[in-house]
This record gives sequence, structure tokens and C-alpha cells, in this order.
Amino acid sequence: MTETPTLELRGIDKSFGPVQVLHDVALSAYAGEVTALVGDNGAGKSTLVKCIGGIHSADAGDYLFEGRPVQVHSPRDAAALGVEIVYQDLALCDNLDIVQNMFLGREKRRGLVLDDSTMEEMAAATLQSLSVRTVKSLRQKVSSLSGGQRQTVAIAKAVLWNSKLVVLDEPTAALGVAQTAQVLELVRRLADNGLAVVLISHNMNDVFAVSDRIAALYLGRTAAQVKASDATHAQVVELITSGRSGDLGPQNTSKGAAA
Ligand SMILES: Nc1ncnc2c1ncn2[C@@H]1O[C@H](COP(=O)(O)OP(=O)(O)OP(=O)(O)O)[C@@H](O)[C@H]1O
Ligand SMILES: [Mg+2]
Repeated sequence: MTETPTLELRGIDKSFGPVQVLHDVALSAYAGEVTALVGDNGAGKSTLVKCIGGIHSADAGDYLFEGRPVQVHSPRDAAALGVEIVYQDLALCDNLDIVQNMFLGREKRRGLVLDDSTMEEMAAATLQSLSVRTVKSLRQKVSSLSGGQRQTVAIAKAVLWNSKLVVLDEPTAALGVAQTAQVLELVRRLADNGLAVVLISHNMNDVFAVSDRIAALYLGRTAAQVKASDATHAQVVELITSGRSGDLGPQNTSKGAAA
């Protein structure tokens, strides 16, 4: 049985002026699974994420969502599909509280006034559904939160909108051990709740702890897409640093991906 991926990218090219950053990139992400996107600094991961989120438009290639070809040229297009991105440089406003951040730009209104109680209830329900318990008050300013709590709010914001695909660009990069464990648990829970999740991480332990599939980019090209259970830490590190590893490499990009 071949399952249709929630997201399937094929042949994605992206240049900035004369510099081509993405070359013929492929990526598939499936509902109920965490797909890790790995690659060295500058490999093109964040650029690919911005193409998924509509911040950049790809120069060439196919963007299929739930099997249908779609056009995504703005964050609005992505949001309409149910695609939510938590960017590497977190877009939270320090001077606003948790509820205000989660509804920023998409506030609920009753007539002309903001419907604070509904927003607060929805924010609380979302955090509860994700079993987030470390946040004391929803009316706390984001500036008073720890790094892990900020990530949690950013992730909860992403899943508030009936999203189908959530992409997290290095959510644990700035976190300590305990907070990393909490965020990874949350990432796993998103997938277990049926979402397709793409997780970018440089940390192989994190990648193997939560991922079902691993996609590696090397110098802006797809080095491999494999099931996590078909690859070792060492092989993934080799894919990241040299673009191939034994039989995993450009000739075998579909290995495991279609199974
Ligand atoms: N807006 C832009 N204009 C020009 N070049 C860009 C732009 N955005 C990214 N690049 C270039 O594209 C390449 C890939 O960058 P990208 O941020 O996608 O890498 P990355 O894989 O996310 O790296 P990291 O792991 O460090 O976050 C880099 O060489 C970068 O300088
Ligand atoms: Mg990046």
C-alpha cells in the first residue's frame, strides 16, 4: 500500500540572484510521522522551509499537498492549506502575552471588540491538548518565558489552526537538556495526534529520538530520504558531511521513502 504524503516536493530549484541555493530538491512528509530534515550549515534547509511556508516562491518544481498540485506563493497560501511553520528566528512578540501571541494577526472578534475569553479558552485547550503544563499563566508576557516555554508557545500557535503539516526549524537549538526533552516530546505528540511534522535539527540524538524518516540535504541537493530505522547515526552524519553513505545517496534517494 502506498500512502499519499501530506507534503510532497519534487524538483525544487531556488536561486537568490546568481546563487542557486536549492537544486532539484525532493521532500515527502507523511501524516502521523516526524520527518527530520538534516544538513550542514548553509545546506539550504531554512530556504526549503521558507519555500514550504510561502515566504519564498520556488523557481521550479512541484508542490503537492495531500496528493494535489498546489501553488504556494505567500504565507497566506500555506496557511490556507493547513501548513504552519515555526521559523528558526522565532516570530513571537516579547511585549505581548501568550494568548496575544498565539492569535497575533488572526484575532477572534465579537462584533468590533476582541473576544478575549474565546481566545483564552482556545489557547488553554490547545496547550492542554499538547499536555503543556509548565506555563503558569496565559496572560504572562512572552519576555518572561524560558527558551523552552517560548518554543512551546510557538508550537502551540502553529497547531491552533487545524494545521495538517507543521514544520519546525531547529526548535531545540538554543535549549538545555531538560527543555530539549520537553520540546521533542511535544514534537512526537504532534505526529501522534495525526499531523505531518518536519523537524530540522543538527542533533543526531534528537533526530533519532523522534523521527520516522530522515531527509538529508547536501549543498542544496537531496542526498537521501530514508526511514530512520534503515540508517545509523554514522550514515546520517556521512550523508550530511559528504552527500552520500554506502548505498545511501543520490542514486537511492527513494529508498525507504516509497515503502
Ligand atoms: N535571502 C537570501 N539571499 C541570498 N542568499 C540566501 C538567502 N537566504 C539564504 N541564502 C543562502 O542560501 C544558503 C542556504 O541557507 P539556509 O539558511 O537555507 O541554510 P540552512 O541549511 O538553514 O543552514 P543553518 O543550518 O545554518 O540554519 C546559504 O548559503 C545562504 O547564505
Ligand atoms: Mg537554517
